[in-house]
Amino acid sequence: MTADPRLARRVDWNTHGNAEQYDRYTTAHPMYQVTSRALVALSDLGAARTIVDLCCGTGVTTEVVIEAAPHARVIALDASASQLALARHRITDPRVSFVEGLAEEVAAIVALPVDGVVCNAAVWQLKPAAIPAVSSLLGAGGRFAFNFPAPFAPEAVRAAATAEGVAPSRVRFGASLERAMLDEARLRFGYSPPPRGSARIAGSSPAFEQGFFAALGHAGLEIVRRSLVAVQISPEAALGWYLVPVFRTNVLPTMSAADSEAVLRAAYARWRPGAEETTATWLNCLAVKKECTAEGN
Ligand SMILES: C[S@@+](CC[C@H](N)C(=O)[O-])C[C@H]1O[C@@H](n2cnc3c(N)ncnc32)[C@H](O)[C@@H]1O
Repeated sequence: MTADPRLARRVDWNTHGNAEQYDRYTTAHPMYQVTSRALVALSDLGAARTIVDLCCGTGVTTEVVIEAAPHARVIALDASASQLALARHRITDPRVSFVEGLAEEVAAIVALPVDGVVCNAAVWQLKPAAIPAVSSLLGAGGRFAFNFPAPFAPEAVRAAATAEGVAPSRVRFGASLERAMLDEARLRFGYSPPPRGSARIAGSSPAFEQGFFAALGHAGLEIVRRSLVAVQISPEAALGWYLVPVFRTNVLPTMSAADSEAVLRAAYARWRPGAEETTATWLNCLAVKKECTAEGN
C-alpha cells in the first residue's frame, strides 16, 4: 500500500480536493438539496429577519434558505475554508455573509440574536457544546432546525414513522457498496478496518441519540415538529458520494485518500452490475426555544 502520510492519518473537510468532490456530488445528485428543502419547509422561516445556516458547506442549504426567507439576513458559517470558498463563489447575494468558524463557537462568532438556525446534514458531526451555543442565539420562540439520516436517530425515526403512519425504509444508502469496498480492500491490501467505534463517525449509537435529544432539552429547546423525507439513491449517486474523501474515510479510516479511491473504483466496477437503487430516509426536526425560566433555561 502506498500510504501517503499526509492523508493516511487524517482526511477531513479541508483535505485537498474534498470540497471540489462534494460540489461535484451535489451538482450531479440532489440528496442535499432534497434534505435542505424538506428541512426549510418544516421550519417555516418566511418571516425571519436573521437566520444562521450552521455548517453551510458549499452553500447548497444557503440557497434554499434565502429563497424561503426573502427578507432575512443569512449568516452562513462553516469550519472548512475550502467548503466556504466554493460557497462564496456560488452565492453572491448581499443578504448572505459567510463566516469561517466552529459551530461550537457560533454564539461568540455571531453575537446577535437570531430568529432561526438551520443545520442540514451536519448536526451529528458537532461536539455537544454546539447545542447550548445555538440555544443562546435564540430568543423565546426562536427556531432550530436540524436533521439526521435514519441510522443516526433510529428511535426518533421509528417514532416519526409511527406518527406519520408510514413504514420507514431504513436502508442506508451505499451500504452494500460499503461492503464491496471492504471486500476489495481486504483482497487488494489485506486491509482490515480498525475495531468498530475507534475511527467511525460520531453518532449512530443509541447513547448518541439519547444524549443529543437530552441536551436539546437541557438547553431549553423543545421539539415541536418532525418530518421524514425519503431520498432515492442510484448506484451512480452512491459512487459519487464515496468519491468525496471525507465520506470514504468512514469506511476505510486508516487508508490514504488515493488508495481508498482505487479501492472504491474497483469495488464499484464489481458491484455495479447487481446494484439497485436504494432509499435513504432522513428525519427533520424543528425545535423551538422555550420561554426563559427563573432557573435560567
Ligand atoms: C455534509 S456537509 C453539509 C453542508 C450543507 N449544509 C449542505 O447541505 O450541503 C457538512 C458540513 O459541516 C461542516 N462542519 C463539520 N463540523 C463542523 C463544525 N464543528 N463547525 C462548523 N462546521 C462544521 C463541514 O465543514 C461541512 O461543510
